[in-house]
Amino acid sequence: MPLCLSVRMSDIFNERFGKLMKIAIDGPAGAGKSTISKGAAKRLGFVYIDTGAMYRAIGLAAVRRGIDTADAEGVKSILDDVDVAIRHNENGQLIFLNGEDVSTDIRLPEISVAASNVAVIPEVRLKLVELQRKLAADTDVIMDGRDIGTYVLPDAELKIYLTASVEERANRRCRELKEKGVETDFDAVKADIEYRDKNDSGREFAPLKPADDSVYMDNTDMTLEESIDKVCELAQSRRVGNKV
Ligand code: CDP
Ligand code: CDP
Repeated sequence: MPLCLSVRMSDIFNERFGKLMKIAIDGPAGAGKSTISKGAAKRLGFVYIDTGAMYRAIGLAAVRRGIDTADAEGVKSILDDVDVAIRHNENGQLIFLNGEDVSTDIRLPEISVAASNVAVIPEVRLKLVELQRKLAADTDVIMDGRDIGTYVLPDAELKIYLTASVEERANRRCRELKEKGVETDFDAVKADIEYRDKNDSGREFAPLKPADDSVYMDNTDMTLEESIDKVCELAQSRRVGNKV
């Protein structure tokens, strides 16, 4: 049976199994996490939560206030005044910073490094993890990030570590930026990705790494459709309790 057409699969799953399902997708920048998660969530009828957007919102808040995002004390000093909220509409997730829709502003290339810098700070992570767990509490969810399977949702029924070669990830990000009309330089995009790979994997608190019980999925040579199919197949097999 084609798993992921127009049927709301979560309704069928819940009717048969009566239990909510959590899917955690972690991996480095440009691996395809957001696009694949969004596509799979749509097919499965799950809610998609992009946790990177939350770190980007705090990075943006710091940059707007002229705070050096590598200065942990400076970033911590604004945390109590920073409210991050998520809403969903027909196009997916919107992110609000103190009530303002910043869904577009957080995608500026300079906010990537700011997000990665503030993400090293445990106080930032704890604030956002609380929000992430609340959002996942009472719904079928696909959540993507860096520490979802290892820290945020350790009991997720399906954990995927999604990756691709650094060249392919930089190519993808360049294509994406070009489509948005943003001037790109391959070497600069690749350097940004490498900086974040190192920063995200090397931090002490909740670093990027595959969860022990995750499925390792390298999609360097896979199309988007193939990747979404794979995630949906894995979701189905985990839901019925089969070994993958
Ligand atoms: O989309 P892209 O892979 O470029 O990045 P993102 O998912 O929007 O995340 C931006 C930054 O937030 C990452 O480089 C990480 O430093 C941080 N992040 C994190 O530390 N933990 C998460 N669960 C999600 C993002
Ligand atoms: O969220 P993450 O940073 O891991 O990656 P993304 O923003 O979902 O994907 C980066 C770009 O790669 C997007 O423009 C995707 O459409 C594209 N992509 C692709 O061309 N082929 C894939 N197999 C996966 C992603």
